[in-house]
Amino acid sequence: MKPVVLSSLPYDYDALKPVISGSIMRLHHSQHHANYVKGTNLALAKLEAHKQSQVDLNVREIMRDLSFNYNGHLLHSIFWQNMRPPQAKNGPTDKLLAKIENAFGSLAQFRKLFSQTALSVEGSGWAVLGQNAEGELVVGQLEKHNLMTMVSFTPVLVIDVWEHAYYLDYHNNRQAYIKAWWSVVNWQDVSLRIFGV
Ligand SMILES: [Fe+2]
Repeated sequence: MKPVVLSSLPYDYDALKPVISGSIMRLHHSQHHANYVKGTNLALAKLEAHKQSQVDLNVREIMRDLSFNYNGHLLHSIFWQNMRPPQAKNGPTDKLLAKIENAFGSLAQFRKLFSQTALSVEGSGWAVLGQNAEGELVVGQLEKHNLMTMVSFTPVLVIDVWEHAYYLDYHNNRQAYIKAWWSVVNWQDVSLRIFGV
């Protein structure tokens, strides 16, 4: 596997204000996400060294480091794309709306389920809207970045509820962060991940 790189955000650090401040975005992207990139590449370098020679690996440690950091990198990469500057009127396209209604009853019921999933993450983690191998939409939760993962589950909409994602702005009020976050959801990006358009 090739080393991963930290891509630039598709908008300025200040672009999601007042929902998410520039300070959080800068720290989150340039420090936290950058560390997951670094951690991934460190683990990959150890595997590469193992490929080249007979060095003994602490496999348990490498597998933990790789899944934690690589999933952290992937989830943050999706998270940045899943957002855009706040919109007064913000919602999914008709095609995506129909798929959401089919899977969850209504957009309101989906938002409720997704928000409660995010709110009930114990400690650090994510709520994820994903698409399974059958093309069905499912909502799940990831502890940290990598535990309780449902196999065959491709994330299409994710929210980071680690404290580093909101604490500077919302302190311990995760619920207020989740509520405000809906206005920066980039539904076009979600649609692109599901339908390819
Ligand atoms: Fe994060």
